[in-house]
Amino acid sequence: MVEFLFLEKQMKVTIHENTSLQGLNTFGIEAYAKYLAHITSPEGLGKVVDHSIFKNFPRLVLGGGSNILFTKDYEGLILKVDIQGIQVLEENNQSVLIQVGAGENWHQFVLHCIHHEWGGIENLSLIPGTVGAAPIQNIGAYGAEVSQVIEYVDGVDLETGKSQRFNQDECKFGYRESVFKVDLRKNIFISSVTLRLTKKNHRLYTQYGAVQEVLTRNKIVQPTIRDISDAVISIRQSKLPDPAVIGNAGSFFKNPPADINHVRDLQKQYPSMPVYPIDNQNVKIPAGWLIEQCGWKGKRIGNVGVHEKQALVLVNFGGGKGGEIFHLATKIQESVLQKFGISLSTEVNII
Ligand code: EPU
Repeated sequence: MVEFLFLEKQMKVTIHENTSLQGLNTFGIEAYAKYLAHITSPEGLGKVVDHSIFKNFPRLVLGGGSNILFTKDYEGLILKVDIQGIQVLEENNQSVLIQVGAGENWHQFVLHCIHHEWGGIENLSLIPGTVGAAPIQNIGAYGAEVSQVIEYVDGVDLETGKSQRFNQDECKFGYRESVFKVDLRKNIFISSVTLRLTKKNHRLYTQYGAVQEVLTRNKIVQPTIRDISDAVISIRQSKLPDPAVIGNAGSFFKNPPADINHVRDLQKQYPSMPVYPIDNQNVKIPAGWLIEQCGWKGKRIGNVGVHEKQALVLVNFGGGKGGEIFHLATKIQESVLQKFGISLSTEVNII
């Protein structure tokens, strides 16, 4: 254990050696990190960046561990994001600008906003993970994406140690994509996210079929943001496994884009194939549907398997190894490619 005191704030930063990652990834995979440091402030990160371990080993920034699969031990330094705090920066009659520490739990933050009647992220209720991870893969669900409300993202450049602010455009958001996932993958440690949320005249996204169904069933005609959040929570709980009960990382694959002509040909053979429009030439096909058609839904191989209610989610029933999940994912990709001529790419980061 390498310890040093950060005297200005009496803040201790510790680099732990050979630490189990089992409690730090929602798949519940047992793997070890050679080194691990809990980062509770940008200043603490500054201290770690100066350390020889940081300079001499590969590094990985870890948030809630809900979008990662460890297939082996990590032979470097893991920077666990533990920066807390929710701060209102600006407020007027219409909206509020809120800065949130990257280590805050995403769903707890959503509930905090609903409690204060701040609208904009209610459709993103119950998504596992941290606030800092939200912009990286531009989390989205039930017709909304976090990019719609992000004003800017603050981070630390791990090469230079300098703070850097990224406005909306600079974040280069796309479907489950951002500049942090692609170009800056290894270099930026996100320290906080600043969002603008509405205080009234909320823009509600209720068009998504499953959300509409729950609202209708509950006879809600003019939904509040809390009604939408409750609807989303009930849909997610009915379809998606709770990582506290069965290890998983949500959608394992992305919904693949496909050329509309290829899809028209496929639909002759599979008339029930659902599609989401992208533009005139491309559509997105639900990967869960493709995987189910290949017979994988509910299949179990040893300790790992494909969730029985949503084929896009791979699960660890307990004691599964990262390599087993990876092997299953590869088999699924092969059969979807063979049957439909479509390649599935992973949404989860494979380490
Ligand atoms: N479907 C099947 N079989 C399945 C799963 C889905 O046939 O096993 C079909 C459904 O019947 C439906 C379509 O596929 O027609 C879409 O299913 P669903 O509404 O469940 O959404 P999804 O496209 O599978 C995406 C996100 C989810 C998000 C939901 C709701 C991706 C990769 N996944 O799933 O995100 O919650 O929409 O908006 O875009 C996550 O990222 O971890 C996640 C759960």
